[in-house]
Amino acid sequence: MNAFAYQHGELHVEDLPLRVIAQRFGTPAYVYSRASILENLAAYQRAFAGVPHLLCYSVKANSNLAVLNLLARQGAGFDIVSGGELARVLAAGGDPGKILFSGVGKSEAEIRLALAQDIHCFNVESAPELERLDALAAAMGRRARVSLRVNPDVDAKTHPYISTGLRENKFGVPFGAALEVYRAARNMAHIELIGLDCHIGSQITELSPYVDAMNRLLLLVDRLAAEGIALRHLDLGGGVGIAYQGEATIDLARYAAAVAPALAARGLGLMLEPGRSIIGGAGILLTRVEYVKRVEGRSFAIVDAAMNDLMRPALYGAYHAIEPVCPRAEANETFQIVGPICESADFLGHDRELALHAGDLLAVRDAGAYGFVMSSNYNTRPRACEVMVNAASSQIVRERETVAQLFAGEHLSAD
Ligand code: LLP
Repeated sequence: MNAFAYQHGELHVEDLPLRVIAQRFGTPAYVYSRASILENLAAYQRAFAGVPHLLCYSVKANSNLAVLNLLARQGAGFDIVSGGELARVLAAGGDPGKILFSGVGKSEAEIRLALAQDIHCFNVESAPELERLDALAAAMGRRARVSLRVNPDVDAKTHPYISTGLRENKFGVPFGAALEVYRAARNMAHIELIGLDCHIGSQITELSPYVDAMNRLLLLVDRLAAEGIALRHLDLGGGVGIAYQGEATIDLARYAAAVAPALAARGLGLMLEPGRSIIGGAGILLTRVEYVKRVEGRSFAIVDAAMNDLMRPALYGAYHAIEPVCPRAEANETFQIVGPICESADFLGHDRELALHAGDLLAVRDAGAYGFVMSSNYNTRPRACEVMVNAASSQIVRERETVAQLFAGEHLSAD
């Protein structure tokens, strides 16, 4: 579904003009479509209906409490990577029995918090982490359910910064070492082995790397079964890539069909940890043009959102479509869409064909995932507000920061 579409010559989110959102809440603002989030989750639920599965939304993609609460109410589980994300999920009403805890560097304090909540599963990434978990569980009189993250050494064919399944990455246990780790885990009194997981990368738009990864993992599942270690689930990590530039991406029904028979034959359940595909397309960053500046044959639209608000273009060279909220009936020119920060990396888009004047509003599309959560206060810029839209009604789900909040915890040095 496209929750962001033109009606009567202006861009709407669901039934509300984005112009009205800017009037009400100011800019820059992240704007999310409730219907779009629900539809994205439902698309997974429909496609995987024939496979026993649990969808654990990857909280890192967008951890706003309203987003988490909306998903929790649909029965989603959650994939977390920190004690902070655990606290958010609990505050949003998430079920601890549906939480997976991923990440290479879980601290003792984080593990204790998760054990106290009896979360569904720890996705363990190394032998030392397993030992730490066993010891902490023993001290608390608990038994930790565990899946081992194995690195299947497959090429996810995505950006190197977000590719995680190759041998040289810091993630997971090397494929060849996994059997030994499972054998050791079997003898730990406070560990219960329930699964095997991998995450080969993000923004993957081809099915074959997932199938390759699954087939590698199944070799291990079968070997473990032969040794009497019967696992209950396979976790194939993050969700499918999204169409930032209209590119083809993975069809969920084909994904489900490709994995279902092998899982069914082994009585394995499936876990997925989608983030981007649930929330990415459901959000935009709304920004206003401060100045139009023409120098040396180049035209710049200097907008009020910057790399601190949306880091993906600066960090990954990522492309986000940028659309005028109220398109003008004038000839387009080629614009560099840039922010006010003193860095050349501070851009939202290069070479965009648009007709723009100061004061115009722009929507930076597909900004719902890894947008607000990666924003910072660089240049002492308060972070943007977040707004949730349901049909024609809008609600602030995170208030814009104030400058006073930014240095409230700072102190002058006594000397
Ligand atoms: N599970 C694990 C263990 C992960 O590391 C990730 C993402 C996910 C699930 C969710 O993957 P998704 O469904 O969103 O593809 N900041 C980057 C993306 C980093 C992704 C890191 N891991 C970006 O803006 O593209």
